[in-house]
Amino acid sequence: MAVPYQITSYKQYQEAYHKSVENPEQFWADIADHFVWHKKWDRLLDWNFSEPKIEWFAGGKLNITENCLDRWVKTQPDQPAIIWESNHPDEQHRILSYKELNDKVCQFSHVLKSNGVKKGDRICIYMPMVPELAIAVLACARIGAIHSVVFGGFSAQSISDRILDAGCSLVITADGCFRGNKTIPLKSVIDEALLSCPQVERVIVLTRTGTAVSMQKGRDIWWEDEIRKVEAEGKTDFPAETMDAEDSLFILYTSGSTGKPKGVVHSCAGYMVYTNYSFLNVFQYRPGEVHFCTADIGWITGHSYIVYGPLSAGATSLMFEGIPTWPDASRFWDIVEKFRVNILYTAPTAIRSLMAFGTEPLEGKDLSSLRLLGTVGEPINEEAWVWYHNHVGKGRCEIVDTWWQTETGGIMISNLGGVTPAKPTFATLPLPGIQPMLVDEKGEIIAGGDASAGILPENTISGNLCIKFPWPSAIRTTWGDHERCRTNYFSACENLYFTGDGCLRDSNGFYRITGRVDDVLNVSGHRIGTAEVENAINMHSNVVESAVVGYPHDIKGQGIYAYVIFRGHEESEMHIRQDIVATVSRIIGAIAKPDKIQFVSGLPKTRSGKIMRRILRKIAEGETENLGDTTTLLDPSVVEEILRGRL
Ligand code: WTA
Repeated sequence: MAVPYQITSYKQYQEAYHKSVENPEQFWADIADHFVWHKKWDRLLDWNFSEPKIEWFAGGKLNITENCLDRWVKTQPDQPAIIWESNHPDEQHRILSYKELNDKVCQFSHVLKSNGVKKGDRICIYMPMVPELAIAVLACARIGAIHSVVFGGFSAQSISDRILDAGCSLVITADGCFRGNKTIPLKSVIDEALLSCPQVERVIVLTRTGTAVSMQKGRDIWWEDEIRKVEAEGKTDFPAETMDAEDSLFILYTSGSTGKPKGVVHSCAGYMVYTNYSFLNVFQYRPGEVHFCTADIGWITGHSYIVYGPLSAGATSLMFEGIPTWPDASRFWDIVEKFRVNILYTAPTAIRSLMAFGTEPLEGKDLSSLRLLGTVGEPINEEAWVWYHNHVGKGRCEIVDTWWQTETGGIMISNLGGVTPAKPTFATLPLPGIQPMLVDEKGEIIAGGDASAGILPENTISGNLCIKFPWPSAIRTTWGDHERCRTNYFSACENLYFTGDGCLRDSNGFYRITGRVDDVLNVSGHRIGTAEVENAINMHSNVVESAVVGYPHDIKGQGIYAYVIFRGHEESEMHIRQDIVATVSRIIGAIAKPDKIQFVSGLPKTRSGKIMRRILRKIAEGETENLGDTTTLLDPSVVEEILRGRL
């Protein structure tokens, strides 16, 4: 049955957009009516951006898993909910129907309950991309516990920081995970992380790799043993906990321009409604189609468009454990062919890394099932867009360039596949309910972004991107520190949500996101704060000071360039570099390893001691002449030295 709020023409989009701005309450109420509630809301929206306070569907009672599972078990129990493809091409794939997924989520909810988990508890999940990861996430939601999924590439230190910040009492992990030809020992990373987290009383360990692990008596238990117990007791169904609309659903840590990563909090009802709405409209999902999002569930893209968005729409979501280039660069295309994938949603960095292999890996692959291609995570360059369009989509598939953030919960600016116009490298138009604004450096509004605001400028304008009005899946707070949420996102411009992204808007009103305007890097689609990398480098005992900037990188989008003041003995530079890289891997994880390390004797600083990153960024980008004004520097000669030694 067609979903009434799925937009099917450009005209309908314009009408929906107009309505969403004119009468947002009615607009979202009409959509929310199509979900399963224990009790409908009392007030649709309460908000002010100054605290900030954002409450959608207040007074409503529900459980998101009834919307993702139970309602589909009734109408399409045998429909595949999750198709799982292993890292290893010769390992049997798995298909879990809605009925099977529901049964497994209920079983694991029993496991959580018998291990003392209660509504509101925080659970850390550090797992490989296997169906049990989705099952763990959904079981937390079913019992009302708040999940905090930590990407499998993060180090022990990063995990313990996150566990302590959220006050997690239980950890769900696996013995190890497979990534290409590597096996990563997840449990031993958790063991190290937990040395500094005494409040964690339980660790549930799934068997995946067969790697030997040490199990701590009284704390660590096996997933499989627990499931056997539940089975022996004959427990099947698990009644979903009744949640308030504004109860927290999950925490997901993300990097900002300062300090440690912050825990972005999303709440139950608004997140559910918006991920469902955006999934159905951007991807134009049709019943029976296979949706393949290549992200990891450790990132927001996996939360919203592998788990909650697709499942709340009764869709078939394909989950892939491996990487695009192993055992060879045909891996994605083989998966598309094998499962007749209709929607492929990936990151520009993956496209660029596959482009580097040419078109040979695509030869002879049947990609005729593909209907729609999507990208997310970073600006897509025109060359990658054209390659994706011509060689993967064979010129027949629309591309949706979807702009959004961990904090926005769901896709904010994107064309709706095949329904609204696409323009290479442009995310194009806002979804209904989303009101973008462009502001200048001082936070003054340059242009009212919403199409209904009337007059469009004749030329392209550029500014910093803000959002004017709340949308259902907006960030509610940063865990444990509401003030940080306010200062980070709601203080730069009065009454606006500040995204941290720079943006162009053309004469059609189409948006093109150009990249971060703050000190956040985007490396292979992963957000990393420069301050975080600097702190990690400075942990090396011989490092006096460091400054980190991004530079254009052919495959990663941005690479990490570190300027380091090193004090020490006569070691080879190569050796020191390796040590610094190892330090960063230990403190943050391999994703934050600097690509280039330049040793310097001083950093360009203003008289007040502030590092002038603008200059360092230009040098890292290869600029040698127009470095801008250097007269305010304490010691302009350091710039000369840095230029001479640049890599
Ligand atoms: C960037 C990922 C250009 C942007 C969903 C944003 C993009 C950050 C796009 C959020 C896009 C994401 N075009 N840039 N289509 N999508 N970005 O929180 O800089 O991991 O602020 O969320 O990625 O990254 P995050």
